[in-house]
Amino acid sequence: MVIMKMLVSIFVALLLPSLIFSAPDFPVFNVVDYGAVGDGLTDATNAFIKTWEATCTSSPSSPTMYVPSGNTFLLHPIKLEGPCVSPAVTIQINGNITAPIEPSRWRCYDKRCDKWIHLKHVNGLTVHGNGTINGRGHKWWNVNDRLRPTAFEISRSENISLTGLNFKDSPRMHIHFEKSKSARVTNITIDAPGESPNTDGIHVSGSRDVFIDYCQIGTGDDCISIVDGCSHLNISNIVCGPGHGISIGSLGKHGSNDNVEDIFIRNIVFINSTNGARIKTWQGGKGHASNIIFERIRTQDSYNPIIIDQFYCDGEHCTEHDSAVQVSNVTFRHVHGTSQGEFAVKLDCSASIPCTGIVLEDIDIRSGYEDQARAYTSNVQGIVMGLNIPQTHL
Ligand SMILES: *[C@@H]1O[C@H](CO)[C@@H](O)[C@H](O)[C@H]1NC(C)=O
Ligand SMILES: *[C@@H]1O[C@H](CO)[C@@H](O)[C@H](O)[C@H]1NC(C)=O
Ligand SMILES: *[C@@H]1O[C@H](CO)[C@@H](O)[C@H](O)[C@H]1NC(C)=O
Ligand SMILES: *[C@@H]1O[C@H](CO)[C@@H](O)[C@H](O)[C@H]1NC(C)=O
Ligand SMILES: *[C@@H]1O[C@H](CO)[C@@H](O)[C@H](O)[C@H]1NC(C)=O
Ligand SMILES: *[C@@H]1O[C@H](CO)[C@@H](O)[C@H](O)[C@H]1NC(C)=O
Ligand SMILES: *[C@@H]1O[C@H](CO)[C@@H](O)[C@H](O)[C@H]1NC(C)=O
Repeated sequence: MVIMKMLVSIFVALLLPSLIFSAPDFPVFNVVDYGAVGDGLTDATNAFIKTWEATCTSSPSSPTMYVPSGNTFLLHPIKLEGPCVSPAVTIQINGNITAPIEPSRWRCYDKRCDKWIHLKHVNGLTVHGNGTINGRGHKWWNVNDRLRPTAFEISRSENISLTGLNFKDSPRMHIHFEKSKSARVTNITIDAPGESPNTDGIHVSGSRDVFIDYCQIGTGDDCISIVDGCSHLNISNIVCGPGHGISIGSLGKHGSNDNVEDIFIRNIVFINSTNGARIKTWQGGKGHASNIIFERIRTQDSYNPIIIDQFYCDGEHCTEHDSAVQVSNVTFRHVHGTSQGEFAVKLDCSASIPCTGIVLEDIDIRSGYEDQARAYTSNVQGIVMGLNIPQTHL
């Protein structure tokens, strides 16, 4: 019996892994084999494109495009496009990838230089590794917002996994999921200065079934922003700060009809972020933001830990209209910590389209300073349960 068990465990320990790992060879396409030089100076863009073509047209299952560690590869804007032959494609990035430091030296493949690394139409895509993707955005940050590129965009793709990678100093947003479905983002770090403009950590638009967890995000704009056309997003175990919090919106800019629903955000730590749990919409917009839960939030020194702002604007178009994005069924539950602004809870909704179904449950946010943290509410319908600090009336 004992011998039998030993034999079984020897089998499990020795034979099983070799059975798994000696299974059909998954082809690996190394960028170095396609001419990339990892000195941080030589342009590796064409080598990456050739490596991608080989990977994407490879017919056996699970080909891998490999970016080896100990190297830094200089990339100009690049589009890696599918559909690929294999239903599962991996990009393993263990080396570093860096952008040209001078904005004027960026070589763009089309007129709008609005993306640096763009993956499009790739289903079953895994991007992982321990490399750093460095947008070296410092010199871009004084350039007009509309001209600055997003560092890493995945668009029109399905079944995506993005794990392990580190993102740094994007010219604009760091990661953008656009019109994609079923994505899992985990164990990512994003790091840019608190003063860098519009450098959102992860921006999600037009996408559903996106799960983001175990990420550390410090940046100059929203740590995570969720805009029009998103539904079924779960976001958990995020440390955010510096940054502008985790935001739904902005929605309804220039009268647009924007809709976001079924968003679950839990186990979040906000450290020194301007906002925490935030919904922001423009006057004059249409659509709705509904079925949103923020729960188990810890806030340390945020200015507006809980905020719904139906009067979001850019300082120019700030008048009240008779239409607005409807905000309904929003729960803030178990939110504890400190704030350093005047209003720890700010729910500012419009008379024409009040916020409805708002739940505040077990809120305990105290001022980290001498003043008392206060609550401000306007045109909000809902209920308050459990701890209610600062005292809020709905
Ligand atoms: C890659 O980037 C990280 C983070 O900036 C840095 O610590 C590491 O030394 C870089 N590796 C190489 C090979 O340059
Ligand atoms: C990244 O992972 C590779 C492969 O596992 C390893 O060889 C390398 O040392 C790692 N690099 C860092 C900076 O941890
Ligand atoms: C995504 O994955 C699911 C489950 O594995 C699969 O059923 C579906 O066909 C995949 N979608 C695409 C477009 O590959
Ligand atoms: C997270 O990613 C890093 C590489 O950036 C890796 O070293 C680490 O093991 C990962 N952690 C988990 C829990 O997977
Ligand atoms: C808080 O963030 C501000 C703005 O990013 C920064 O200047 C300040 O040093 C941060 N404070 C702490 C304690 O991290
Ligand atoms: C997302 O959160 C909702 C609400 O708690 C839960 O029902 C659902 O199972 C979660 N999905 C995943 C994949 O974690
Ligand atoms: C809000 O919640 C209520 C009760 O759960 C539900 O009947 C209603 O359809 C929800 N509203 C929206 C816009 O989803």
